[in-house]
Amino acid sequence: MKSLKVGICGLGTVASGVINVLKRNQNEISARAGCSIDVVQVASRRMRDNCDMQGIAFTTSIDELIDNPEIDVVAELIGGYDLAKDIVIKALNNGKHVVTANKALIAEHGNELFALANSKGLVLAYEAGVAGGIPVIKALREGLSANQINCVAGIINGTGNFILTEMKDKGRDFADVLAEAQALGYAEADPTFDVEGIDAAHKLAILASVAFGVPLQFDKAFTEGISGLSTEDINNATALGYRVKHLGIARRHAHGIELRVHPTLIPQAQLLANVDGVMNAVLVDGDAVGQTLYYGPGAGSEATASAVIADLVDVARAVLSDSPVLVPYLGVMPDKLVELPVLPITEIQSAYYLRLSAEDHPGVLAKVSSIMSDSGINIESVIQKDKERENEVIPLVMLTQTVQESKMIAAIAKIEALPEIKGSVVRIRVEQF
Ligand code: HSE
Repeated sequence: MKSLKVGICGLGTVASGVINVLKRNQNEISARAGCSIDVVQVASRRMRDNCDMQGIAFTTSIDELIDNPEIDVVAELIGGYDLAKDIVIKALNNGKHVVTANKALIAEHGNELFALANSKGLVLAYEAGVAGGIPVIKALREGLSANQINCVAGIINGTGNFILTEMKDKGRDFADVLAEAQALGYAEADPTFDVEGIDAAHKLAILASVAFGVPLQFDKAFTEGISGLSTEDINNATALGYRVKHLGIARRHAHGIELRVHPTLIPQAQLLANVDGVMNAVLVDGDAVGQTLYYGPGAGSEATASAVIADLVDVARAVLSDSPVLVPYLGVMPDKLVELPVLPITEIQSAYYLRLSAEDHPGVLAKVSSIMSDSGINIESVIQKDKERENEVIPLVMLTQTVQESKMIAAIAKIEALPEIKGSVVRIRVEQF
């Protein structure tokens, strides 16, 4: 089998996620890419024990990695500007494709770097730079390519959203939550990038370019941070029926585009207002499709690795595929489809909402409960509603814990056979996602 050889610059949070996920999911990833994707070398200032480096050469020399003739793709996962830019330029000049998670680099130097990649006929991919694990660049560039995009608005900094959520829900102190976000690996090396909206503006500049087909113009973005927000304003917004979110907004007008990042009140009922914690969400308004919303983890080791690896799969398909169809019809190469049977409904596991119509006698609930317990079904809660007229049946409503459907079917049959139960038991499955 052919193999795409990857060299990774950096061994931090994202790089370790890439190495771990590539190893763990190697069968699925190679079935999708049409070849194996192997990290052959990592260059970093120091070795770390945050991932399985077995079979991967380690060097402290980035030049050695970029000059390694075995490497097809360089993954720039160092972050920052100067060194990262140098790596990307040298790698492209050395004929290597580049994948990066570096939004600052793309937002500020993307115009120049894309021109270089184009002139060399190489791929420069950056999905992981915007909204972590959410494939929003792919959605905009490919899935929505029929549309004139009117507006992109998003929560695109996980650290800032985490801070605002904790302040609202727990009344926590700004600095305390920021320290936690840093410890969890969400925050930028310089956390003022997160709280002052610079990181969000980097991502917004990229989104706006992809959405509107304009050059990258990060330097023109209006940026206002969240460090000046007080708990009082957050609580006032709640009392008025709003949530305060740090939004990036790009809107197209005939005479120009809006490009702005600032704290914003959004009505509580809107989906974006309910995106909490480190999660990101990007709302895209297209003239044909209307509004679509992309939600998911905007930071974190494996979430960001998911996007880096998706770019590597794209490179593999573009570079190594012999097939005229770049993306396989069912996601994996036809000879890699696996035989996994569809399970019968009786094998699923679910919790249940049940509504029974019962005669109002002593002991009816006990009979129902004993059927449930004999069937190994745990009841989570019961509501007995009042009857409205004499001699009328009463509705008994219960929620159960998770159980196999076949057990529930058998228990319902026994409950329906009780003389005190009238009609059919209403059953609705309950799922937690
Ligand atoms: N510091 C960024 C965030 C990491 O908090 O969203 C992902 O870009």
